Amino acid sequence: MSLQIGRSVFGNIANKNNVLSKQAAMELMQQWVLNPKLQLHMLQVAHLMKCWAKEKENLSEEECWKWEMAGLLHDADWDQWPELHCKKIIEELEQRNIDPEIIHAIASHGPAHFGVQPETKMDKMLYAFDELSGLIHAYSLMRPNGYEGMDVKGVKKRFKEKSFAANVSRHEILEACEMAGIALDDLIAFIINNINNI
Ligand SMILES: [Fe+2]
Repeated sequence: MSLQIGRSVFGNIANKNNVLSKQAAMELMQQWVLNPKLQLHMLQVAHLMKCWAKEKENLSEEECWKWEMAGLLHDADWDQWPELHCKKIIEELEQRNIDPEIIHAIASHGPAHFGVQPETKMDKMLYAFDELSGLIHAYSLMRPNGYEGMDVKGVKKRFKEKSFAANVSRHEILEACEMAGIALDDLIAFIINNINNI
């Protein structure tokens, strides 16, 4: 099964700043994604994207929503149409005349799988948060108090343990950090501090 998208230009620049309302984006996510674990993952990534855009990039509310929306929909087609991931959601957003920046971020969230390189900061942060937040969430599930009291050291220990959350690619996480110019420890700390405040 090849997930290669086979193109690197998405949407139409004339649609810049066109977004879905939060309600419409949530409805699309909930209609397409039936698995509650995947829904939670997408909500967590969306929240991290919003927090990063606001705190670290000092973006306007409108821009922050674009980041959040990319996170909220990045795996929308994975649950029901894994063989079409992430072509189906890209085409849906193109049909809905959505801002190409949001579509590009979704298309580049797994460069090794989809063949589309992250370019903007939004692209790179979606790539960075996706896998690492999954590993940190898996760690929270095995801790008696979940996220409470979690520290960077504990996450790093799990990160180095290849058998833990073995499907999470450490290589991709390190690559994403390098692309985004962020130290792994700083990204872990940011996720720990923000992931549980949805
Ligand atoms: Fe994801």
